[in-house]
Amino acid sequence: MAHNAPYKICFVPKSREEEEEDEKIYKSYEEIISKLPTVEGWSGKPVYQYQGFWYNSDLVGVGPLAVQNHFTSKPTDILLASTPKCGSTWLKSLAFAVMNRKTHLPSTHQHPLLTFNSHDLVPVLEIRLYNNNLNGNQIPNLEILPSPRLFGTHMPYTSLPQSITHSDHARIVYICRNTKDNLVSWWHFVNKIRSNISLEPIKLEEAFQWFCKGMSVFGPFWDHVLGYWKGSLERPRNVLFLKYDEMLAEPVLHLKKMADFMGCPFSLMEEKEGLVDQIIKLCSFESLSNLEVNKGGTSHLGLTYNAYFRQGKVGDSANYLTPEMIEQLDHITEQKLHGSGLTL
Ligand code: A3P
Repeated sequence: MAHNAPYKICFVPKSREEEEEDEKIYKSYEEIISKLPTVEGWSGKPVYQYQGFWYNSDLVGVGPLAVQNHFTSKPTDILLASTPKCGSTWLKSLAFAVMNRKTHLPSTHQHPLLTFNSHDLVPVLEIRLYNNNLNGNQIPNLEILPSPRLFGTHMPYTSLPQSITHSDHARIVYICRNTKDNLVSWWHFVNKIRSNISLEPIKLEEAFQWFCKGMSVFGPFWDHVLGYWKGSLERPRNVLFLKYDEMLAEPVLHLKKMADFMGCPFSLMEEKEGLVDQIIKLCSFESLSNLEVNKGGTSHLGLTYNAYFRQGKVGDSANYLTPEMIEQLDHITEQKLHGSGLTL
């Protein structure tokens, strides 16, 4: 795809001194990471444990540390958070379409979502912006991006910069999904990454073991979900907690809720004009997965974007998991979420 993702303007050329300074900073983060517990992970590359969560080193580099030290949120920012394979591609599309509907009508044939995959429109902080593997040790200048800014993250709530978690204004929309579908979706995705670098696929049993031990990407899954769940209870005006499964069942209700939360509610006129339905249609699995960009485009990971679109349904895990696996996962989920008020 010839188009450059819009967020790339934040990588402005720097002076030699500034470049050296950035390099020094990233080196210091690398030193910290090199002392952390590290194992060979599901993608055949090292994963390290930082502040209780597992990070894939080739996916994020030292990104999480750079985010913590350099990202400053603005009151108008919206952060779209999730653990991978919970529907972030969809959430980003919906949020982008909602936020930009005045400049980009959802019905227009020039809509950015028709040309860009949503990960290019809503960059993940630790993967696209602060990842030294990807950006040659350059700290981005996010001030240059027009407000309101939309970012994605897979970092756990407890590791987010304080400018987000302690701000009265910064808002987070979190999406989660039932444990079993998340595991099966992740397993498929891992095998796409592995086949991309000519590695044998891993068996579902193996992925299941990693997952149950909490060693899935950005895992433990349950701790990730609980962090944001607690955040949403403590700061309901700042953290909106959504479930993929419920959103698929009632998209209109949830889209309106999201728009309210994001500070751009639909007017009666917009509803009458059918904007809510138009956005849902534009962002549906069927529409997005059939676009040229998402069928043939390639992400920064070297993965074709079609890897982000598999089935888009609830309950597909039942076609893969054995009754024993289901029982074990349900048991862990019940234990982990016990007393939290959250069910998955
Ligand atoms: P399945 O593997 O179960 O099909 P993420 O976007 O966080 O990586 O999550 C990927 C999951 O969301 C995949 O689930 C994918 O098919 C589904 N998905 C992607 N786009 C979607 C859309 N527009 N609507 C609903 N689900 C979508």
